[in-house]
Amino acid sequence: MLANNLELQSKGKEGKYALGAFNTNNLEITQAIIEAAVEKDSPVIIATSESAIKYAGLKEISKIVRSLGEAAPIPVSLHLDHGKDIGIIKKCISNGWTSIMIDGSGYDYDKNVEVTREVVEMCHPEGISVEAELGRLGGIEDNISVDERDARLTDPEEARRFVEDTGCDTLAIAIGTSHGAYKFKGESKLAFDRLEEINSLVKTPLVLHGASSVIPEVVEKATRYGASFPGAKGVPVEDIKTAISLGITKINIDTDLRMAFTASIREFLSNNPDVFDPRKILGASRTGMKQVVLDKIDILGSGGKA
Ligand code: G3H
Ligand code: 13P
Ligand code: ZN
Repeated sequence: MLANNLELQSKGKEGKYALGAFNTNNLEITQAIIEAAVEKDSPVIIATSESAIKYAGLKEISKIVRSLGEAAPIPVSLHLDHGKDIGIIKKCISNGWTSIMIDGSGYDYDKNVEVTREVVEMCHPEGISVEAELGRLGGIEDNISVDERDARLTDPEEARRFVEDTGCDTLAIAIGTSHGAYKFKGESKLAFDRLEEINSLVKTPLVLHGASSVIPEVVEKATRYGASFPGAKGVPVEDIKTAISLGITKINIDTDLRMAFTASIREFLSNNPDVFDPRKILGASRTGMKQVVLDKIDILGSGGKA
């Protein structure tokens, strides 16, 4: 069945667990996510970036996610990740997305409020929930000044005002994570003090982007079969659990699925040099990605919450 992010994250906030928001680009990734969520009896968010939409086709990716989601015995949200193009946002609204992210984090405060409000006004009459973003993603490095760090991370009081000014349903915040496989040069460092303060001032559910862990066993497997990701580092599982205990109710994961896809395909092709059936090759990648989603659901605590 289909649901929107606000419905799912409100229950997460109440029950002190988080939803996984997994990025998809095709049929096999979507199947891996939904099969794992069904097995765990977990609600799940399936996210499509604007570039995923360009890759797969807007109507096509909507139909893939919606048809699998509608048939599943768990709540599934079809979410636009980092929406920036109002034209694409409008098309998502009329093609079955249940949740939209408007990412105005690259603008100054007033412009971010303006674009976010515009999207809220388009989405709410359709029953679509809206995620907005305040603050800029990026690792906390030792060699930046406190002022620079503060300018980038989400300001708690500004977050309170932003939610009031925009009417957004959920809020993505910056506490030191970044997208991709190279998040920290040294040890991971997240601003948990800030998260705690934001959570005490902001009543809407909070979102953590750039939350892949860059799973050591997956990196090891990919490397064993020829990949090379020197210096890859993600958010440790313990930090994800701390973030959830301090109020995060949506954990965004793309990199960990990409890496599982790569590791599984490399392993399969290396062990089966005579196979050229795409179903067998992509089937192996689906199995690898499904295992990652199963493990994530255990970490996030959303199993049994469907
Ligand atoms: O936050 C970004 C996601 O990982 C999506 O990345 O724009 O390459 O699809 P993408
Ligand atoms: P990762 O790159 O850590 O997987 O983050 C994905 C994300 O935030 C998508 O919006
Ligand atoms: Zn993101």
